[in-house]
Amino acid sequence: MTSLTALSIASEIFPLIKTGGLADVTGALPTALKAHGIAMRSLVPGYPAVLGGIEDPQQVHSFADFFGGSARLLAARCDELDLLVLDAPHLYVRPGNPYVGPDAKDWPDNALRFAALAQAGAWIGQGLLPAYAPDILHAHDWQTGLVPAYLRYSGRPGPKCVFTIHNLAYQGQFPYELLEQIGLPKAAFSLDGVEYYGGIGYLKAGLQLADRITTVSPSYALEIQGSEAGMGLEGLLRLRAGRLSGILNGIDTKVWDPSADELIPATYDVETIGARGRNKQALQARFGLRNEPNTLLYGVISRLSWQKGLDMLLEVLPGMLAEGAQLALLGSGDAPLEEGFRTAALKYPGQIGTVIGYDEALAHQIQAGADALLVPSRFEPCGLTQLCALRYGAVPVVARVGGLADTVVDANEMAIATGVATGVQFSPVTAEMLAKALTKTRALYADQPTWRNLQINGMTTDVSWKNPAQHYAKLYRELVDA
Ligand code: ADP
Ligand code: GLC
Repeated sequence: MTSLTALSIASEIFPLIKTGGLADVTGALPTALKAHGIAMRSLVPGYPAVLGGIEDPQQVHSFADFFGGSARLLAARCDELDLLVLDAPHLYVRPGNPYVGPDAKDWPDNALRFAALAQAGAWIGQGLLPAYAPDILHAHDWQTGLVPAYLRYSGRPGPKCVFTIHNLAYQGQFPYELLEQIGLPKAAFSLDGVEYYGGIGYLKAGLQLADRITTVSPSYALEIQGSEAGMGLEGLLRLRAGRLSGILNGIDTKVWDPSADELIPATYDVETIGARGRNKQALQARFGLRNEPNTLLYGVISRLSWQKGLDMLLEVLPGMLAEGAQLALLGSGDAPLEEGFRTAALKYPGQIGTVIGYDEALAHQIQAGADALLVPSRFEPCGLTQLCALRYGAVPVVARVGGLADTVVDANEMAIATGVATGVQFSPVTAEMLAKALTKTRALYADQPTWRNLQINGMTTDVSWKNPAQHYAKLYRELVDA
């Protein structure tokens, strides 16, 4: 096995900076790739949380004027991660999250902030740092869509570029007038370049110009070639279908391990699954729910956005409660959804508990204590919470879309008889079908031996990075050998 070097370029990386599953993926893949002879470094913006969380930073390059200010590259570590941090305070040292300010509006200079990240990645690929020449650049999501554009229009040789779509709904579209400021030539502004509906499309550029495109599940790779999930890019994706593939995400099975998880009250494994009862009791207490060991307790851990379909859950709540269930929801996002779940918790005390916010430890406690985990997404490129749920014995109840369809085996009659079922799927994704799925889940829960089988099948499913990492390693090798 020849060893290769790859540079991952992304706006988020766990445990330093995370707004969603992207960070989990970029944080776990480098370690998983080691076993396949791939040494992956990760380039990430120097947000305050990143600068505050790294160990042993060493300056390896400085820029006098980089997108309107001075900047430097720091080589650093964080646990097992080998990092390059783009320390450009004028772009990244701000309060709020990576994309929006405290007023919940996009930072007005996002076009520059992420062009800078992509440009730094491309330059490193082209030999900016002495003694470091990555064989592959692996760029993630719209924030890094310009990486292959900078490579292409520099006119200089560079490594092959893989571009991964984590979510086609966020596209990074900016006005044409910025072209010069982000350092791209006029020639880049064409249909087969960065041009997108009269402006500059960062995601579009990635899809158009990368050597290979991947997304995070085989089903989503197919769905995005159609008009419903394609979000306007389906034509381009169909054109590039020969370069597009779906590789399922895994989860970090060290971070998510119910037998050793320090964030949960009682650890357990398949043999000691009964200990989940203590976690359920603690969860009920934490969410102000009635202490009822035999009441079906649903958990939700989610961004509250249209994608996640939780408005449909609000619609079916009365029916769900009438069937005698409880809900513990952790999430944050769109104000009307936050308000909806807050109000529901006030209206149904003891039956619905809501925590609005972002809480890593509580996410673990929900996975360890809820009987079932609900994910009614309208679309879901992969989804990670259902993978964690499988590992923790919380039966996933999911919409049959994208990665949810690919990772949960529906408890239909045949699958139960064969002993392979791990959860409940529903389709089409409507409130009516969600309500039916809840009724079905209720019936499965009432049959405890069957329910226990669902839990054990889930807990013994391989949700690790082992297989996915092998696929990425193969893809990198194919590209390097091509
Ligand atoms: P997406 O990236 O679309 O938000 P994923 O399911 O891929 O969805 O990943 C979401 C990740 O963020 C998971 O690791 C999940 O546990 C975590 N997460 C989402 N919302 C919260 C929250 N409110 N508190 C803690 N963790 C959360
Ligand atoms: C995106 C998707 C989610 C996926 C995650 C990591 O945020 O919404 O489905 O799991 O990226 O790939």
